Amino acid sequence: MARLPILVAPDPRLKLKAQPVEKVDAPLRRLMDDMLETMYAAPGIGLAAPQVGVSKRVLVIDIAKEGEAKAPLRMANPELLWVSDEDAVYEEGCLSVPEQYADVTRPARIRLRFLDHENEIRELEADGLLATVIQHELDHLEGILFIDHLSSLKRNMILRKLSKSRKSLVGA
Ligand code: NI
Repeated sequence: MARLPILVAPDPRLKLKAQPVEKVDAPLRRLMDDMLETMYAAPGIGLAAPQVGVSKRVLVIDIAKEGEAKAPLRMANPELLWVSDEDAVYEEGCLSVPEQYADVTRPARIRLRFLDHENEIRELEADGLLATVIQHELDHLEGILFIDHLSSLKRNMILRKLSKSRKSLVGA
C-alpha cells in the first residue's frame, strides 16, 4: 500500500466530474487500499478518488472512532437510490479544505447502491454521520466541495484562508 498526495482547493482537478469504473479489478482494489491508507494517515473519515487526482467514481469511508475496530467501506460507482425529506446538519470538514469547518445541511437518511471491492453490487441504508459522509464523498465525484454548499461570502473567506496558509507553507 502507498500513501497518495491529497489535492487542496482550489485545485481545478477537484472540480471535475469523475468517470464510472468498468469493474472493480485488482488495480482498482489497490487504489481503494491506497486511498484508505492515505485517509487513515491524514487522518480523515472519508476520501474520494478525485482528491488524490484520480477522476474515477471511487470512494472510501471509515467512521469508526479511535480505539474501535476499523470498519472500512470501499465503493465504486455509488448511486443514490433514495433520500429522506428530513434534513440533518453536521459540521463538515474536508482533507482538500484543510482545517476549515462549517455546518452543512443534507438529507438525514439515504439509500445507495454501489460496487464493493469484490465487484459485487451492494445496497446500503445510512443515517447519522455515515449518511452525511457518504453524501460529502458523492459530491466529490461531481466536482462539488462542502464549501460549495455555503454562501459565497463564507466560501470566499475559506478559500482566502487556504491560499494564505499555502503561501506561508511555501515561505517556511
Ligand atoms: Ni471532502
